[in-house]
Amino acid sequence: MYNFRMAIWTKKNVLLFFIIPLLFGCSENISPNPNNKYVVGFSQCVSNDLWRQAMNYEMTLEASLHPNLELLILDGQSDSQKQIADIAYLINQKVDLLIISPNEADPLTPIVEKAFKNGIPVILLDRKINSELYSVFIGADNYEIGFQAGRYALNLLKHGGKIFEIRGLAGSSPAIERHRGFADALSKNNNIEIIDGGDGDWEREKSEKLAALMIKGIKEHPDIDLIYAHNDLMAFGAYNALNKLKMAQKIKFIGIDALPGDGGGLQMVLDKVLDASFLYPTGGDVAIQIALKILNGKAVDKNIKLESVLVDSTNARMLKLQSDHIREIQLKIEMQKKILNKQILKYKSQQTILFILITGILLLATSLFFLFRAFRLYKKINSELEEKNLAISEQSTELEMQRDELYKMHETVKKINESKIQFFTNISHEFRTPLTLILGTLDQLKDLNINDKTFIKRLNIINKNAERLLRLVNQLMDFRKIDAQKMSLNVFKHDIVSFLREIANIFEDLADKKNIKFNFSAQHDQMDIFLDDEKIDKVVFNLLSNAFKFTPNFGEISLSVMYGACKENDKECIEISVKDSGIGIPETELEHIFEAFYEVEHKENKRTTGTGIGLALSQKLVALHHGTLRVKSKVNKGSVFTIQLPSNADCYEKNEIKEEWTNIESFNHLGPLQIKTAQDQGVNPLENYDDNVESILIVEDNKEVVKMIKEYLDKDYMILEAYNGKEGLSLAQKYKPDIIISDIMMPIMDGNQMTKFLKSDIETSHIPIILLSAKATDDNQIEGFGGGADYYIIKPFNLKILELQLKNIIKNRDRIKEHISKDILFFNNETRIGDLDKNFLKTVIVQVEQHVLDTDLSVEKLGKTVGMSRLAFYRKIKSVTGHTPSEFIRIIKLNKASDLLKNTNLTISEIAFKVGFETPSYFTKCFKKIYKVNPSEYQQNI
Ligand code: FRU
Repeated sequence: MYNFRMAIWTKKNVLLFFIIPLLFGCSENISPNPNNKYVVGFSQCVSNDLWRQAMNYEMTLEASLHPNLELLILDGQSDSQKQIADIAYLINQKVDLLIISPNEADPLTPIVEKAFKNGIPVILLDRKINSELYSVFIGADNYEIGFQAGRYALNLLKHGGKIFEIRGLAGSSPAIERHRGFADALSKNNNIEIIDGGDGDWEREKSEKLAALMIKGIKEHPDIDLIYAHNDLMAFGAYNALNKLKMAQKIKFIGIDALPGDGGGLQMVLDKVLDASFLYPTGGDVAIQIALKILNGKAVDKNIKLESVLVDSTNARMLKLQSDHIREIQLKIEMQKKILNKQILKYKSQQTILFILITGILLLATSLFFLFRAFRLYKKINSELEEKNLAISEQSTELEMQRDELYKMHETVKKINESKIQFFTNISHEFRTPLTLILGTLDQLKDLNINDKTFIKRLNIINKNAERLLRLVNQLMDFRKIDAQKMSLNVFKHDIVSFLREIANIFEDLADKKNIKFNFSAQHDQMDIFLDDEKIDKVVFNLLSNAFKFTPNFGEISLSVMYGACKENDKECIEISVKDSGIGIPETELEHIFEAFYEVEHKENKRTTGTGIGLALSQKLVALHHGTLRVKSKVNKGSVFTIQLPSNADCYEKNEIKEEWTNIESFNHLGPLQIKTAQDQGVNPLENYDDNVESILIVEDNKEVVKMIKEYLDKDYMILEAYNGKEGLSLAQKYKPDIIISDIMMPIMDGNQMTKFLKSDIETSHIPIILLSAKATDDNQIEGFGGGADYYIIKPFNLKILELQLKNIIKNRDRIKEHISKDILFFNNETRIGDLDKNFLKTVIVQVEQHVLDTDLSVEKLGKTVGMSRLAFYRKIKSVTGHTPSEFIRIIKLNKASDLLKNTNLTISEIAFKVGFETPSYFTKCFKKIYKVNPSEYQQNI
């Protein structure tokens, strides 16, 4: 391994030797192309003496002025083999130029030649080799120095004498040349003898030792006058040795190098250790300058001579002053350099800060710029948005205004429409009374037994059209009711097969008449389904009517029912189909046929057929059942209308479902189950209802008339319906209505029979009965009144008159009740009520009086005594007297008490107990309520 070592310079030496370049050369502007980087290798033969250190320093200093130059110094350590290896290494490193100061000429010559041959420029410094294969030699003329030294010695030894010569390293060119020059200078002088001191060594340690050895020689020649050593170090060594022998004073000493500073030859001359020395420049700085010239491709001399100067007592001081001055300057330069370095550092750090600052400022400026742009953009977008917003808000205000306008228009249209519909509904309503009157009159005319066929035929035409008109009016009203969501469902379980068969039966006659093959089929004998029969009846009836209307004679119509799957949700449903082989409906019209009053145009015969309102209403009625009504049709082939209805009751609201048909629509609000439960528990549902609303039972076989009366009255009354006398009787017994309106001519049981039954039953005898009949003769009326009827109204009748009549009846009943109360209090036998009721009341009063002491006298007990159930008794007492049974019992007791107050001397307490009051205070309270005074006041007043 090679030991590469850069020379380490002491501060002092560096300062001292700075003088040399200043004295012997100055830098040119020879920096090679600054863009090129150069590596210069310097192989130094030895670095441990001052002179070599000065050389290295000068070189380093010069190189530092050229930043693109890298200087690599290797120390040969005075060993030629090591130096060879160093050079080989530098060649391998492919340095751009080699500076070599060879230790010995012979051993170093081949490696220097090799470098040169490899194309590396070689500068030899101070010492030479035995070859011309190098680029430049730089150094002082050692022959000349030797020669000058010889001349100086000659001058010193004017009269002749002995000179002892100590040579440098054998084989090094300075040693050879310094000897030759010296010898030549003295060769012509026979008075001077040169004694060969032998080969010394350049190094301080070695040379001192060698010098000591020389002393031995001197001892052999004690008459020596002068010692000539090839450098100052060896001369000093000799001086020291001779000084110890006290011989130094008489001997002259000449050395070479004359280095300034401590330990240098200049000081030795000043100290008179040496008589003379020769300033021998190192040429380190020159070598770098020349190297740069070569690298720059400039021509240089092959031999560059460095000047040498004799130093002795005549110029040593001046040189010393100069060197000190230079040293001071050097120190200042050093100081300034330091300051400069600091400044550079400061500058660099400031530069860095400045760079950072500038970068920061630039970044800030850029950011600000972008921020500003972004802000401008933001403002622009904002203002655009604001504009847009403004436009939008204007638009939306406009839209709002339009919407409000539209809403207003819509509302107006709605109102107009509603009032139009209301108008038509009212008109329809108004039509119904005259129509009923017409139909009633027709009934009367039919009863006249006229046999004129033409008359009967025309009568039938009027009847048919009046019925048609009434049907249309009813449909219109139903339609309106559905639209207003006022139509409620009364769904209960039906066998759809028998239900449809009944409807089909109605059309049998018509089918026969038109020779239409009419067939009814069902998938099963019985198929149960929940539906509102009244409404589905209308639908099926309408579909069959249409089928018969649009099917020509000898066509085919079928009504069928089967289980299917709902098209919407695949749930089980029942499908009712009405299929005909009629004229069919054009495809383009199909979607419109469920619109009210839509007209279907038949191109083939240019006829139009109106659907009227029937299909529209049918569809709505089916939709109420959560079902669908659809049609398929082909012109001239026929149509199929299919109703799909959910087969179970899941889809209906609880209040829409009835478990059992009750025919009491008026009680729907209580719910069918409540009615049933009330019945089962023997509680009259009317009792649970608002007492202020009167109930009316209509008994009439003509459903249209029932419907008409019902619709007219049901806003003020609760309506019960029955379609014959028997039904009427059972409902009257069950519910004890406030009034009964009944037709006379009815199947199963007529109105007169029913009246007789009701009036002879103590539970119903109090109910006012109005007979309605087309039978207008006196006999008819006599028969009616004879049966117990309270009123008789001849058909056709005016509903308004009926309504007023009802009001009068109720007023009368209230008056009677009032009378009864008073009569009871004052026990008046003249009360205007029926005999049956009078007797009933008497019986009750007697019973109460007999049990007056019984504080436990309950309504139930009392009812039993007159043979009535609690419910029947309650209803009877309430309807006849206007009081509940318990109130009635209390009134009787108080009546008795008033008798006792009037006719006995009993105390109030005694009377209270006598009439069955548990405490006198409660008696007083109750008494005051009826008689408006206390019992004691009452007594006093009497
Ligand atoms: C330094 C030195 C000098 C002498 C030179 C000759 O190493 O010995 O004293 O002048 O070398 O090469």
